[in-house]
Amino acid sequence: MNDTVKEIKNLLKQHKAVLLAHNYMRDEVQEIADITGDSLALSMEAAKTDAEVIVFCGVHFMAESAAILSPDKKVLLPRPDAGCPMADMVTPEGLEELKRRHPGVPVVTYVNSSAEVKAHSDICCTSANALKVVKSLPEEELIFVPDRNLGRYVARFVPEKRFIFWEGYCPTHERMTVEAVLRKKAEHPDALFICHPECAPEVTALADHACSTSGMYNYCRTSPAKKFIIGTEAGILYKLRLENPDKEFILASPALLCPNMKLTSLEDVLHALQTLSPVVSVPEDIRLRARQALDRMLAVPRD
Ligand code: 13P
Ligand code: SF4
Repeated sequence: MNDTVKEIKNLLKQHKAVLLAHNYMRDEVQEIADITGDSLALSMEAAKTDAEVIVFCGVHFMAESAAILSPDKKVLLPRPDAGCPMADMVTPEGLEELKRRHPGVPVVTYVNSSAEVKAHSDICCTSANALKVVKSLPEEELIFVPDRNLGRYVARFVPEKRFIFWEGYCPTHERMTVEAVLRKKAEHPDALFICHPECAPEVTALADHACSTSGMYNYCRTSPAKKFIIGTEAGILYKLRLENPDKEFILASPALLCPNMKLTSLEDVLHALQTLSPVVSVPEDIRLRARQALDRMLAVPRD
């Protein structure tokens, strides 16, 4: 264990802090995290612990979700400049304008969004539960923000519903081209292709399975296949390889690197613990309304 890691561990204990790392974080950050997982699972786990401080190694909207669900805990985001371009593509003003044009139509908002946008929404969803959330709503027409690709992917399974999409997207997933996937498939004809529904529809159409990051761990663990082409951010390979030493994982495209997810270093984590900053907080009126949208999602029965 190097000195930085030792010091991080000491400070975590001293401050009664828990270290969370998203599945896309750098390997060395995931390696020392108390909990790794997808964006919402991390916030929910953190809310359950008796930690007083949450160090969230991820991007801004994820730390906000933790702050929404854990108002009594201090939430630190070691790199305050780690944002999510897709989340930034929708603003509360823009969403209100869309709602005015479609009065009474419920808004389903992907968790990759700001707390303020969540506060202007009826219900949230993740990539893991988007279809269930959509199906749980009685209305035939829905506004879906901000990810046009996740929205269109879900819409395929509910032809009885009409969708109004926000044209947001993840620049990292959209950088993966059909040509790159076809090249990898030709090189590895015995591999399954698994991708995230944030990919462009023509890429998702090539997939043997499309699912969230947590869904990918389950799928690859339980599948009898031995070789997988992975169509999501490169950070996911760390735990896939750790958990499945007998299987082979190939990144579908070298473009699958989210610059924001790669910002946080061990030194940033150490600095956050030494200074107990930068803190991410959500004003109480926004927090309560955003929490309602998250709670409605959490009330949707799982399998
Ligand atoms: P998850 O919700 O699967 O963690 O994904 C978050 C994300 O940023 C995907 O690009
Ligand atoms: Fe946002 Fe895409 Fe990065 Fe996820 S991978 S944090 S959606 S930019």
